[in-house]
Formats: sequence, structure tokens, C-alpha cells
Amino acid sequence: MTPSGVPDARHNLITGGAGFIGSHLVERLLAQGEHVVVIDDFSTGTQHNLASVANHPKLTVIESNVIECKELSQLVSDSTHVFHLAAAVGVDLVVQSPIRTIETNLKATEAILDAAAPGQTPLLLPSSSEVYGKSAKEGFSETDDLLIGPPTLGRWSYACSKLMDEFLALAFHAERQLPVTVARIFNTVGPRQTGRYGMVLPRFIKAAKAGEPLRVFGDGQQSRCFCHVNDTVEAMARLAMCDHAPGSVFNIGSTEEVTIFSLAKRVIELTGSSSGIELVPYEKAYDVGFEDMQRRKPIIEKLEQFTGFKPATTLDDIIRSTAGLI
Ligand SMILES: NC(=O)c1ccc[n+]([C@@H]2O[C@H](COP(=O)([O-])OP(=O)(O)OC[C@H]3O[C@@H](n4cnc5c(N)ncnc54)[C@H](O)[C@@H]3O)[C@@H](O)[C@H]2O)c1
Repeated sequence: MTPSGVPDARHNLITGGAGFIGSHLVERLLAQGEHVVVIDDFSTGTQHNLASVANHPKLTVIESNVIECKELSQLVSDSTHVFHLAAAVGVDLVVQSPIRTIETNLKATEAILDAAAPGQTPLLLPSSSEVYGKSAKEGFSETDDLLIGPPTLGRWSYACSKLMDEFLALAFHAERQLPVTVARIFNTVGPRQTGRYGMVLPRFIKAAKAGEPLRVFGDGQQSRCFCHVNDTVEAMARLAMCDHAPGSVFNIGSTEEVTIFSLAKRVIELTGSSSGIELVPYEKAYDVGFEDMQRRKPIIEKLEQFTGFKPATTLDDIIRSTAGLI
């Protein structure tokens, strides 16, 4: 360590490393023998997420907001790779705190890009399948047009802020030759994801274990593809190492589609729960006028072409793993 607390070895920097996906990425890179530095303000992440590696000699955790981190430039320029996962995430959080969502997602990304540009530090920027908006296509590919709802509906602030991050990242690549890769992540689930901010699978599992009804919003016929966090993290790590990826956008996600109603039934079966299913109108769950998407399925050929990787954990194994049954 240097006197300022900045580690003296070359490292991977993971902003948001105490969050759900970030903590799994931290574990993966440490297991590979890498040095890892985490910057996290613990707004939605926790120390507990990093409990398994808390005393690891190659891990440094800095508790700070990315925007206020005084050592940011040095930490970024000393990095072999930066993974910028810090963001305001989760439908509930986005609907309740749009200012925080927009400011966090725009300002933190801008600060990271500014810090990475002078040394051309390789950067992986997670975006979100939310940017595809409410387009009704069967599968989404990276070059598709995007159909985002109006600014009067706060839920679209997340998609727009992530999309601006993408534009800014690609502009840094084009104008300042920054090796930045954009990863559009689709629904990722697994151990340590919290249901507090509206994530569906942890909510269902918690209710099933407690013998309470699983609350399905709308008619439950909307479908999603759930990807295990280990698969998402593997895809991210491979993209970061791929020389041809910078300047491009990649979908990361599973292609196994399930309706939310079927998901609820599967959770009840696999956990051996006696819970029932309760259909809740969207207006009761969120504000009047809340918009949801019927389908959200990624086309992932590009990811496979560039990295050779295709997520393959089955939905049943994902549910078992998230419920702590395997
Ligand atoms: N989980 C998913 O299904 C999903 C889907 C699409 C995109 N993503 C993206 O993946 C990334 C990680 O998401 P996650 O699901 O792990 O969410 P998360 O909320 O668990 O992780 C975000 C982490 O960032 C930290 N953080 C937030 N603002 C910060 C700031 N200004 N400074 C420092 N730390 C800050 C939080 O404390 C948390 O640890 C995000 O960029 C998110 O947009 C996730």
C-alpha cells in the first residue's frame, strides 16, 4: 500500500464491487490470482456480499462514492482493467428516486471515462437490456432501434441514463481511442441478489420460503430470460480480455424464456412450498401508467463469436442455486 491507501500493485478496478454482480466478479478475478480494488459507497451493496474474500491479501476495498473518490485517477491509471458496475439499479429504486438514478448513472460513468482516457485504460461498461425499451421484437440484437417511453414515466430514466452512458463510452472510443466495451446485461440472478429493489426471483424465493403468496404483477404472461450470475460474470471477464471487443456493444444474457407466472410456479415446486400465486395489477404495484415489456430475449450470437462463450445454466439450476438448494 502507498501512504494514501492506494495499492501499489497493478490491479483490476471494480466500481460497485460490493454489489450483487460485482461481488461475484471480485471472487472470480481473485480466484484467478488477480489483484482487485473495489470502490463502493455501499448504497445498495454490502460488506456482507464480500464476506468470503474479506481478508484476501490481494483485495482492497475503498468505501467511497465514485464521483467523490479522491484517488480515482490514480486507481484507474494503475489498473489493467476497469469494470464500472457502480450504478443505481432496480425498478423500485428507479421509480422512487429518479434524480439519484440519473445523477449516479451519468456522473459516475463520466468520471470513470475521464479518468481512463489519458492512459487508455481498458474499460468494461455494463449497460442494460432496459435500453431496448418496450419494443415488441422476439429477440433483441445490438444494432436494433430502441423504443424508450416518455420522460413523464420515471421508470425510463434508468434506460435513458444507461443509453447516454453507452453514447458517451462509444464517443470516448471514437474520439480518444479509449478501449471501452459496452455490455448490455439482461436479467441476471443468483445468490446474494436482493429483492429489496424489486428484483423478481429473490422476491419469489423469499415468499415461497415464508409460505406467503408469490405476488405476480399484471397477468404474469410477460416473459423474461434469466441468466445465472456466474455466466454473466464469465461473459464479462471474457469480453474484457477480448482484443476486438472495444468500441462495440454486446448482449449478455440467457435465451431460455419463461413467463413470470411459470417462474412463480417453478419456484413453488422447486422449493417445496405451499404458497399460492396472487396476481397484482400494475397500478397497485407501481404508479398508474407504469409500463412493462411483454418479452425481453437477447440474441447472443455476437458474444459467442467474439468470446466463444454462451451462458448455459438451466432455469431450474438457477432457481435452486439462488434458493440455496445446491
Ligand atoms: N442485475 C441485473 O440483472 C442487471 C441487469 C442489467 C444491468 N445491470 C448492471 O450491472 C451493474 C451491477 O448491477 P447489480 O445488479 O450488481 O446491482 P447492485 O445494486 O447490487 O450493485 C451496484 C453497486 O454499486 C454501488 N454503487 C452505486 N452507486 C455508487 C456510486 N456512486 N459510487 C460507488 N458505488 C456505488 C452499490 O452500493 C452496489 O454495490 C449495474 O451497472 C447495473 O446497471 C444489472
